[in-house]
Amino acid sequence: MKIIGTGSALPKKVVNNDMLSDFLETSDEWITTRTGISTRRIITDERFEDLATEAAARAIDAAGLCPDDIDYIVCSNVSNLYITPHLSSIIMGNLGMKGPVCPTMDVNAACVGFVQSLDVCDALLATGRAHNILLVAAEECTRFCDWNDRNCAVLFGDGAGAVVLTKGNSLISSKITTIPMPDVIVYRNPMEATPFETREGIDTHSALVMKGREVFRMAVTSAARDIARVTEDAGLKLEDIDHFLLHQANLRINEAIRENLRQPQEKFPTNVQRFGNTSSASIPLLLDEGIREGRIKQGDTILMSAFGAGFVSGVLILKY
Ligand code: UT7
Repeated sequence: MKIIGTGSALPKKVVNNDMLSDFLETSDEWITTRTGISTRRIITDERFEDLATEAAARAIDAAGLCPDDIDYIVCSNVSNLYITPHLSSIIMGNLGMKGPVCPTMDVNAACVGFVQSLDVCDALLATGRAHNILLVAAEECTRFCDWNDRNCAVLFGDGAGAVVLTKGNSLISSKITTIPMPDVIVYRNPMEATPFETREGIDTHSALVMKGREVFRMAVTSAARDIARVTEDAGLKLEDIDHFLLHQANLRINEAIRENLRQPQEKFPTNVQRFGNTSSASIPLLLDEGIREGRIKQGDTILMSAFGAGFVSGVLILKY
């Protein structure tokens, strides 16, 4: 595969930490020192599917294509309003593509969804199943937040990023792994209103339950380990990587990974301070911003690393 266009879209409402401390027992000081997050974007009167479609349309436009040139749509998300129909089919309709056109598929791999989908799309292109794939990662994380739960509500934001992929030799190396640990991050169907007991015995009404410290520890360990391994598999040194695009969950997690790898800060762009944790949308948002601002250039070597519910870890290296 190779990336021939990128796009992104964010909701207009900016919510800062002081606004959250109006109704939660929290503070700007706690949130910024523990996570690095200062503001996040939250969907208000927009529709989630429109945000996803906007990112998709921008990526198609940047690729110099029109929607009818797309012959596969993949969408990573865990927060679609509907369990079915899948978001990729809704995006297809919103783009004005009148079916029956091409396959559409949603991927639920939480924060790793974009990286894992890139890996799958490479296989679809390599086997000739598709020629121009639209891959969208769109998340409305604030939909599943319990706004009375300070442990989670302060962490998330909404956003969408997209890429258009065509046949090429950009993908250098990848490694996606799952350790079956269903309890570390759980988001259950919000319609399920009864108290929920995890295997660890945490009793809660919240749809989202996360063992923050454990996720933190696993994220740093798995990312540092997999980044080193995938780089070595590719026959590269860490110094050969121009940009490390890490999933944006917590600035401290990313700083710990960076220190472990002993690489300079300027290779690690961030957006968690402005957008919060946007789950699988965080890496394509970084990518689109880097390309549009001219920091990421053709020929650069990019490493992407994400981690999240499952517990899944995904690392991928590509030549842009
Ligand atoms: O996208 C992937 C999924 N998620 C992640 O990657 C998240 C990974 N984990 C983290 O980012 C961090 O563990 C958190 C930001 C979630 C928490 O940071 P921490 O430094 O690990 O804090 P902690 O869990 O040790 O909690 C410290 C204290 C607790 O109080 P006590 O028990 O020490 O009295 C919490 O109740 O901070 C309290 N606390 C808060 N205080 C003010 C938790 N949330 C808040 C809050 N405001 N919003």
